[in-house]
Amino acid sequence: MEGKLVLVTGGAGFIGTHTVVQLLKEGFRVSIIDNFDNSVEEALDRVKEVVGPALAAKIEFHFVDLRNKDDLDKVFAKSKFDGVIHFAGRKAVGESVEYPRRYFDNNLIGTINLYEVMAKYNCKKMVFSSSSTVYGQPEKIPCVEDTELKAMNPYGRTKLFLEEIARDISQAEPDWQIILLRYFNPVAAHESGKIGEDPKGIPNNLMPYIQQVAVGRLPELNVYGHDYPTRDGTAIRDYIHVMDLADGHIAALKKLFTPDFKGCVPYNLGTGRGTSVLEMVAAFEKASGKKIPMKLCPRRAGDATAVYAAVDKAAKELGWKAKHGIEEMCRDQWNWASKNPWGYQGKKA
Ligand code: WQD
Repeated sequence: MEGKLVLVTGGAGFIGTHTVVQLLKEGFRVSIIDNFDNSVEEALDRVKEVVGPALAAKIEFHFVDLRNKDDLDKVFAKSKFDGVIHFAGRKAVGESVEYPRRYFDNNLIGTINLYEVMAKYNCKKMVFSSSSTVYGQPEKIPCVEDTELKAMNPYGRTKLFLEEIARDISQAEPDWQIILLRYFNPVAAHESGKIGEDPKGIPNNLMPYIQQVAVGRLPELNVYGHDYPTRDGTAIRDYIHVMDLADGHIAALKKLFTPDFKGCVPYNLGTGRGTSVLEMVAAFEKASGKKIPMKLCPRRAGDATAVYAAVDKAAKELGWKAKHGIEEMCRDQWNWASKNPWGYQGKKA
C-alpha cells in the first residue's frame, strides 16, 4: 500500500480526521476535500500535530464543495487517485427531518458528482460511509448485512438511496469496486485528546451531549424514553470507538486493492454488543469522575428500541474486529472533552 494516494472527502470531520491519521500511519498519501460545512480547519491542524511533520507533509487539502462539479474536476485533473473514501455529507437525523432538501442536495448531489468525476478519471475504487440507519427499526437483532433495508427519516433515506445508487453503478459497470460501511454509533476520540467530535450547535447524539453536560456547557441529559422493553427501560445501541471505525476503513480500502474483490459489498462496523443509555451514562461517570444529572423524558420519535451489529462478515472478509470496549470509549471521550471543553473553537469570548 506504500505511497498509494487516497482522496478523503469530508476529511476534516469527526470520522474523517481519525481515518486520515490511520491512513498516514499505514503509509498512504492523503488528499482531503472539505467545505467546512460541519467541520473546521483547526481539526486538520490538529491531525498534523498528531501525526508529526513527516507524515503531515503527505496531506494535501482542497477547500471544495462536492456540489461544485468543476472544482471537483480540477482536483482529479491534478492528481491520480488510487481510491476514494467518501465521508462528506450531513448526518443529523433531527435536522434532516426539519430540512430534508438540504440533505438531498448535500448528500445525493455531492455523491453523484463524485461518481461522475471518478468515472471520468477512471478512479473506480470507493469506500462509502453508510450507516446502521439503513436498517430502520430492525425486526431481528443483531442486524445482518442482508437484512431488509428501510429508512425512517430523510438522513437515513439519503444513505439508503446512495447504497442503491452504488449497487446500480456496480451492476452496470462491473469494473467499479465499492465497499459500503454501515457504522453503528461512533463515539470516543483519538488517545492523544487532540482530535474528537465537535458538533456545531446543540448535539443530537448521546455521547457529545453527555460530554457537554460533563464540562458544564449543558445542565442535564434528557434521557429519551425509560419504558422500553430492555433490561433498564432505556434504548440500546452498538457504540463503537472511532479508532476502531478508522481501522475498519483501512481494512476496507486494502480489500479494494485485492484482485479477488468484485462489485459492491456492504459491511457492518460495530462491536456486536449493545449498551443502554443508563449504562453508557454510568460508564462515563466512572471514567470522568463527573456526575451527569439526568431528566427522564418521553421517547424520541423515530428511535428504535435496540440496534446492534452482527460482526461476522467484516471479521471473515475484511479481517477486522472492533477492539475497544465501553470503558475505553468513555475514557477517550472524556480525555478529548476535558482537554477541549469548547471543542476546536475554544470558548467563545
Ligand atoms: C442514541 C440513544 C437516543 C441523545 C444516529 C444515526 C446514526 C448515527 C448515530 C451517523 C438513543 C438516546 C440521545 C440524548 C438520549 N449517525 N439519546 N438523549 O439515534 O442511535 O443514531 O446517530 O452516522 O446513523 O441514526 O444515535 O446518539 O442520537 O441516540 O437519550 O440527548 O441515545 O434516544 O436511544 P442514534 P443517538
